[in-house]
Amino acid sequence: MSLLAVCLIAVAIVFITHWLYRWWNPRCNGKLPPGSMGWPLIGETLQFFKPNSSFDIPLFVKQRMKRYGPIFKTSLVGRPIIVSADPELSYLIFQQEGQTFQSWYPDTFTEIFGRENVGSLHGFMYKYLKNMVLSLFGPESLKKMLPEVEATILKKLNQWSTMDTVEIKDSTASMIFNLTAKKLISHEAENSSENLRENFVAFIKGLISFPLNIPGTAYHKCLQGRKKAMKMLKSMLHERRMMPRKENTDFFDYVLVELEKEGTLLTEGIALDLMFVLLFASFETTSLALTVAIRYLSNNPLVLQRLTEEHDGILKRRENPDSGLTWKEYKSMTFTFQVINETVRLANIVPGIFRKAMRDVSFKGITIPAGWGVMVCPPAVHLNPARYENPLDFNPWRWEGGEINGASKHFMAFGGGMRFCVGTDFTKIQMAVFLHCLVTKYRWNPIKGGNILRTPGLQFPDGLHIQLAERRSTETESIQ
Ligand code: HEM
Ligand SMILES: *[C@@H]1O[C@H](CO)[C@@H](O)[C@H](O)[C@H]1NC(C)=O
Ligand SMILES: *[C@@H]1O[C@H](CO)[C@@H](O)[C@H](O)[C@H]1NC(C)=O
Ligand SMILES: *[C@@H]1O[C@H](CO)[C@@H](O)[C@H](O)[C@H]1NC(C)=O
Ligand SMILES: *[C@@H]1O[C@H](CO)[C@@H](O)[C@H](O)[C@H]1NC(C)=O
Repeated sequence: MSLLAVCLIAVAIVFITHWLYRWWNPRCNGKLPPGSMGWPLIGETLQFFKPNSSFDIPLFVKQRMKRYGPIFKTSLVGRPIIVSADPELSYLIFQQEGQTFQSWYPDTFTEIFGRENVGSLHGFMYKYLKNMVLSLFGPESLKKMLPEVEATILKKLNQWSTMDTVEIKDSTASMIFNLTAKKLISHEAENSSENLRENFVAFIKGLISFPLNIPGTAYHKCLQGRKKAMKMLKSMLHERRMMPRKENTDFFDYVLVELEKEGTLLTEGIALDLMFVLLFASFETTSLALTVAIRYLSNNPLVLQRLTEEHDGILKRRENPDSGLTWKEYKSMTFTFQVINETVRLANIVPGIFRKAMRDVSFKGITIPAGWGVMVCPPAVHLNPARYENPLDFNPWRWEGGEINGASKHFMAFGGGMRFCVGTDFTKIQMAVFLHCLVTKYRWNPIKGGNILRTPGLQFPDGLHIQLAERRSTETESIQ
């Protein structure tokens, strides 16, 4: 062997050894939190994605909390990451949004959601888009939507009650997709609503899969689903541009008006990415929350009874029995909002909220280095027995009297700080109205399914099948 080859091999060995050393001992101007960086390159990605079928804190986080405490380091999808299961640090991260911490999602998410999605936009553009979204899903807009939400839900429930069994997860997803699509793109009468949704279903199935983009993998189908859905949205937008409408009522109309304005910041690409995120964010999350709620109500007759009393009471007090739900009635559903809070606390639909440290951050003696990813872990906060007694019990009464002391630090199902979910009120209105219509008019029996799977995103692998029937007169007596 020539001397040169020996030298090259020696250099390579030194280089690799040094690289490995750096992998396991990342640079930091301070003290990194404890934790393991896992295997070179893949880190602890595989452990993180390992499925589990419990409502408990993900095993990945639970084991490491036990070993290292509530703040630890790891490496996921090729990135060094600090995981925070600590309410104080998580609160700080939310409050410092746009300053020391910035919204950031792993590269695979960017590929999936588009480069210009709300999650990765900052500063001015972000505020501008957020105002646009809020104008659609803010209280004024929702007030106007209430009758429409009620009518859609009543129609659907009636339809389902004539069927032998109904699968709640998909049925509510389809219903909510239609409601949202209508708000965003007035999509009800179009032929393609189901097609658009099918592409979203393919997209979601692969969303929490291992990011391997070759034909046949779930991830590949996911990207294909997105591509097709984007193509449909684009052609719809173009169609609308050819035939503008007189009144501006949906998101497309807003977008078209904005695009015409001189010096506008909005581009068609940004608008389409945003549309995609909104459709995704709305139909998957809310339908999961509703399915979890029905699953828990099926097993908690006392909660169902209290909920029914609240809603029967609303009907009893109503002067004109034929009128629909009013905003005032909606606002009076105190126990219902407790049920919703308790449901989203346990559902942990968003298992991780990602940020990036913009500069070195010191917290309780440890340092989060600039450029590292940070993952806030809502399940760890929501299932903390020190804050929520018997955390795995479904107990809406724990929310009695409004805000649990310091709740903002211990409840983050909808995020926190500046990036607080803009769909919170929209979700709550849909859930509350759905529960209102369901408990006042129907009773149900679970037939099969209802098992959950976390990968770590929440899924119902075999759905939740129920049989829906109208309430018998003896049960409705109290309202006559
Ligand atoms: C149960 C239902 C829902 C849950 C649990 C949920 C949860 C969340 C969470 C945790 C965040 C914060 C993400 C972050 O900080 O990085 C968020 C943001 C967001 N959500 Fe929701 N969400 C729900 C429903 C909806 C709906 C119905 C919409 C659509 C109107 C929506 C639209 C958004 C948008 C646009 C953002 C980004 C806001 C921003 O970055 O400022 N969400 N959501
Ligand atoms: C699922 O997670 C729980 C707690 O987080 C743990 O006790 C259980 O062993 C896990 N199950 C599997 C199959 O990993
Ligand atoms: C949603 O809309 C599409 C098209 O209008 C329709 O085929 C589908 O049945 C609707 N789904 C629900 C649950 O309303
Ligand atoms: C819906 O489908 C019919 C027949 O397939 C077609 O004539 C019509 O143009 C379609 N409408 C839209 C809005 O695409
Ligand atoms: C639900 O949780 C939020 C956030 O902590 C809180 O502000 C609100 O008061 C709670 N609602 C009820 C009815 O407990």
